[in-house]
Amino acid sequence: MAKKSTGKAVEEKLVVGIDLGTSRSAISAINGRKKWVESYVGWPKDFIARKVVGEPILFGEEAIQHRLSLDLYRPLKNGVIKEGTARDEEAVKELISHLISLVQTKRDDGKVRAVVGVPAESFKVNKVALKKAVSEYADSLLVVSEPFAVAYGVNALDNAMVIDVGAGTVDFCIMHGTVPSEEDQRTVLTAGDYIDQQLYNFLEERYPHADFNLNMVRKFKEEYSYIGEPDGAIKVDIPVDGKPTSHDITEEIRRACESILPAIVESTLELIAKFDPEYQDIIRKNIILAGGGSQIEGLADYLKNVLSEYGPSKITVVKDPLFSGADGALALAQDMPDDYWTDL
Ligand SMILES: Nc1ncnc2c1ncn2[C@@H]1O[C@H](COP(=O)(O)OP(=O)(O)OP(=O)(O)O)[C@@H](O)[C@H]1O
Ligand SMILES: [Mg+2]
Repeated sequence: MAKKSTGKAVEEKLVVGIDLGTSRSAISAINGRKKWVESYVGWPKDFIARKVVGEPILFGEEAIQHRLSLDLYRPLKNGVIKEGTARDEEAVKELISHLISLVQTKRDDGKVRAVVGVPAESFKVNKVALKKAVSEYADSLLVVSEPFAVAYGVNALDNAMVIDVGAGTVDFCIMHGTVPSEEDQRTVLTAGDYIDQQLYNFLEERYPHADFNLNMVRKFKEEYSYIGEPDGAIKVDIPVDGKPTSHDITEEIRRACESILPAIVESTLELIAKFDPEYQDIIRKNIILAGGGSQIEGLADYLKNVLSEYGPSKITVVKDPLFSGADGALALAQDMPDDYWTDL
């Protein structure tokens, strides 16, 4: 519920940047606070479950842990608020309200000005649903594409390209000194979740008696992800008939991680080729890799090699992939002139 002004003398509008992600959502506030949660929202299934979990609603890791007692939602599948189900819309609303509550202090009097970053291509669909979701909590809202937020945060505003490798999507955005239009952006649906599924399939095929789930597979990936030549054998413990057993997953990890490369390369080359020929060389030397998938070992080198066939190239990986979208959105929220904002 929107808080009414209490008429306190000091009333400060809380300015925030929010990165709504498929797997993780992050918020960065002007008061210096930063928080993130896994993008899960769960409601207790019945009154027993309500008693067990002790809360009317759970978020993030806590929701995952209690998943058996909850109706669990991951409302931003593929970065879009899933259409058709009221519960997904409600889950997004609750997630945003939760994120805001995590950074709010007593001095902030309920007024929020938010820039929300969402994946590039689903931009239009999202805007309306998002406005609905945020209107209870924010008085002014601006929705931007996530790669644009990242670009703004690292000041790559002219002749640069951001590649944001997330869970649900890889988002591309070319910056050329103005607010990017739809033509400057692309979304590809094979990203981190896809790698997880591939790895799961490969492991199931090779080790039919091993007992694992998608969550374990994702953790293997996050610890050992790489592209190209392995540093050494990768071995993990997976139970077989209840007994922890060492399994070699070196080759499976490589194949799974490399499965997203063709689409990334294709979109990168295509976006650059479409750009003004005089500036293509400059863009190739100004590519920024963001998102959790930017951590895959060897990814930046691989892309650099491919692009080098076209001319000199340089790829920078953002320092803090978890918050680079939210930080950029916050920077935008602070700088954006008034007429860009939507009053809610
Ligand atoms: N070290 C790592 N190696 C490979 N993948 C990783 C690593 N760390 C995190 N990831 C993956 O990055 C993804 C999460 O990244 P990010 O938080 O940028 O995505 P998101 O914003 O939730 O998704 P999207 O942008 O698609 O909505 C997950 O698939 C996660 O498993
Ligand atoms: Mg993201």
